[in-house]
Amino acid sequence: MNRDEAKELLKGRKYNIITFGCQMNEHDSETIAGMLRDLGCEEVVDPRESDITVINTCSIRENADKRFFGTLGQLKKIKERNPDYIACVCGCMMQQQRVIDAVKGKYPWVDVIFGTHNIHRFPELLQRVCTEKQKIAEVFEDSDEIVEGLPSKRLYRHKSFVNIMYGCNNFCTYCIVPYTRGREKSRRPQDILAEISSLAGDGVKEVTLLGQNVNSYRGTGHDGQAWDFTDLIYGINDIEGIERIRFMTSHPKDLSDKLIQAYADCEKLCNHIHLPVQSGSNAVLERMNRRYTRERYLELVEKLRRAVPDIAISTDIITGFPGETEEDFTDTLDLVKRVGYDSAFTFLYSVRPGTPAAEYEDQIPEDVKHERFNRLVDLINAGSAEKNAAYVGRTERVLVDGASKKNDRTLTGRTEGFKLVDFAGGRELIGTMVDVEITEGKTFSLRGRLKSEKESG
Ligand code: SAH
Ligand code: SF4
Ligand code: F3S
Repeated sequence: MNRDEAKELLKGRKYNIITFGCQMNEHDSETIAGMLRDLGCEEVVDPRESDITVINTCSIRENADKRFFGTLGQLKKIKERNPDYIACVCGCMMQQQRVIDAVKGKYPWVDVIFGTHNIHRFPELLQRVCTEKQKIAEVFEDSDEIVEGLPSKRLYRHKSFVNIMYGCNNFCTYCIVPYTRGREKSRRPQDILAEISSLAGDGVKEVTLLGQNVNSYRGTGHDGQAWDFTDLIYGINDIEGIERIRFMTSHPKDLSDKLIQAYADCEKLCNHIHLPVQSGSNAVLERMNRRYTRERYLELVEKLRRAVPDIAISTDIITGFPGETEEDFTDTLDLVKRVGYDSAFTFLYSVRPGTPAAEYEDQIPEDVKHERFNRLVDLINAGSAEKNAAYVGRTERVLVDGASKKNDRTLTGRTEGFKLVDFAGGRELIGTMVDVEITEGKTFSLRGRLKSEKESG
């Protein structure tokens, strides 16, 4: 069987993609879906109805690993029923030899395995499985080159993720990402701007720029000129049709005054920043290799608030990092109070084999980690509830994302500060910007009332 025949064979097959992990993975899954669509395959939600399943894995914490193996185990039944069924696994877990060995050893019926650098080769691998009846088709090569122009099947019409860079050079001692995503590589600014212009032409209003540390973006323009992250923001701010710019994630060590100025200058840059602090203790920050101090972090927050008084600030915090004392933890609680976060993702430290912190001797007992975690969550939630309550009576511009699963007449969307809002309205408003008067502030979201066009002026 040749390639064309293999393509013919894949046409009309049903697929589903199961995605774990962060926005990078969600975005990679959109690329994989785009490739399958281009091969003539159709998406289904239920893996039991599909002929091809792709599991896009995450390795950030141990429970992500566990969930993957649980899901994989369930696919075995489908494979037993349907010998033509193709099971594919990819993503961050597949960048670790111990995982690849485990998959091959315990799940030999898996057909396709590929890593995070080889998504563009997925169609070829699928075709190889069909043509050569190869048991496992796999690829894990890394290269400095960035493959442009891959297809994408976007989850939303009105908003999109845009990768500006790949990989991470920071080696925070707890984190697996530098090992699973490789070294930092920035896309060319002209490729990014062209992609965003094309998205705007397709009706996209909001772009979220993705990178593990967007502040270290370094691109080279047509003329050989260097572009930093802020130059990119100014460039995107000029693209007609784009109404909102967001980015994820920003590392405090590289947050520049120039970026803070961009918040003031660029009306499309949303007044929200996700600025992961991880810990409020200098001793812990140093052992984490974060390369900033709590004082420096608090100074950044102050500068941001001075430039953009109503900026919403969210963060990530880990509890129970090796060696964290009660005093270190109290420093974290104190920093949380000082900053007054709008929201935060909180994590129990999870040992990642192969990272430096996994070898640290003073690991914290699980019960202590949990007890600190609970205290932290209570403080964060009380802060979020207070912040959200202060929105009552305000009118917020909301980009409508969709209707609630429970009630078709309830819409949900995000404010500029990335707060989730629900309000009554019709589905025709999905993908549009509307004004919503906030009537209730809850811990994790706001409730509001849609303003009529007349009220909005
Ligand atoms: N590049 C981003 C973070 C990506 S990972 C940044 O540096 O901000 C998302 C979050 O997962 C991290 O901010 C951290 O809080 C958490 N995380 C990463 N490794 C972890 C581990 N081993 N245990 C617990 N949480 C972890
Ligand atoms: Fe992980 Fe640190 Fe890189 Fe973020 S900056 S991905 S936490 S190593
Ligand atoms: Fe997970 Fe990889 Fe993202 S480890 S958090 S999917 S970069």
